[in-house]
Amino acid sequence: MNAQALIDTAQALVAGHKGLLAMDESTPTCHRRFAPLGIAQTEEARRAYRELIVTTPGLGDYLNGAILFDETLHQKTRDGRPMAQALSEAGVMPGIKVDGGATGLAGYPPEKITEGLDGLRGRLQAYAQMGARFAKWRAVITVGPHLPSHACVQANAHALARYAALCQEAGIVPVVEPEVLMEGEHTLQRCAAVTEDVLRVVFQALHDQGVLLEGMLLKPNMVLAGLDCTTPTTVAEVADATVRCLLRTVPAAVPGVVFLSGGQAAQLASERLNAMNLRFKSRLPWALAFSFSRAVQQPALEIWQGQETNVKAAQQALLHRLKCNHAASRGEYDAALEKS
Ligand code: 13P
Repeated sequence: MNAQALIDTAQALVAGHKGLLAMDESTPTCHRRFAPLGIAQTEEARRAYRELIVTTPGLGDYLNGAILFDETLHQKTRDGRPMAQALSEAGVMPGIKVDGGATGLAGYPPEKITEGLDGLRGRLQAYAQMGARFAKWRAVITVGPHLPSHACVQANAHALARYAALCQEAGIVPVVEPEVLMEGEHTLQRCAAVTEDVLRVVFQALHDQGVLLEGMLLKPNMVLAGLDCTTPTTVAEVADATVRCLLRTVPAAVPGVVFLSGGQAAQLASERLNAMNLRFKSRLPWALAFSFSRAVQQPALEIWQGQETNVKAAQQALLHRLKCNHAASRGEYDAALEKS
């Protein structure tokens, strides 16, 4: 392991208040997003959509990295460039999702454990040779009256830490993503308590496995009330609860925290990220940026609809959301930006 190279890459991934783009939807997830818009559920449609993203002019102005799905890493743009090369030429580091998805945790329905450690060492070496500089592994934690269980949090934290250690051995920066889901009736306070517990256990596991904190990024959920919670929350409450939780749990040695969007509306995700940076700028030991999928891609996907004639407009919509989130990562987002 070349520690300095990992540190340099991790820092480069959050430099200049730019973020990451998660474009690593598995084939079933991709099809779930395509279906309501009438987009063909084919390999060519997935390739064309990913080409739309990686060839968006100006991508590198707002992004340091983009996370690809394995299939995309093997696909090319129409002019014959591998997708990873197209990203690199745009100034965006290619990354790769390496988890095998979440499946039922034995003995603990309906909780989930993320699979994919078997054979991971070999796959990481191959990905590094194909140009991947960083990787992602997502664990999902369900909140309920009696959830999450200790077993679920421990098992997922252990897998995240094993994954992170293997990444660093291969010279790849791990993005560690423990996602506390929004589904449920839970309050903001309950999400805060669960997220705080989960992050404590995750960082203990990372320590146990010898993971270099300076050479990784954390990709957490924002602290949010559940989708079915009836108590309204303000942007400021979300920002305060999220930053308090992170300040209590994320070591200052970690260079950056890049949020997932988790199904939040695109504009709201920008407002909340902005409020965190605006209200706490001088107190944050790490960069606070974004690694959204839906909150960046959804407006563009709805414009594209699988039609070649819509590519330019979809690229503009994608770039617009990236610009808004880049501003939010500096605490300089304003609703007026939405009209630009
Ligand atoms: P969302 O921003 O849509 O939650 O996706 C982020 C991600 O990478 C999930 O693994």
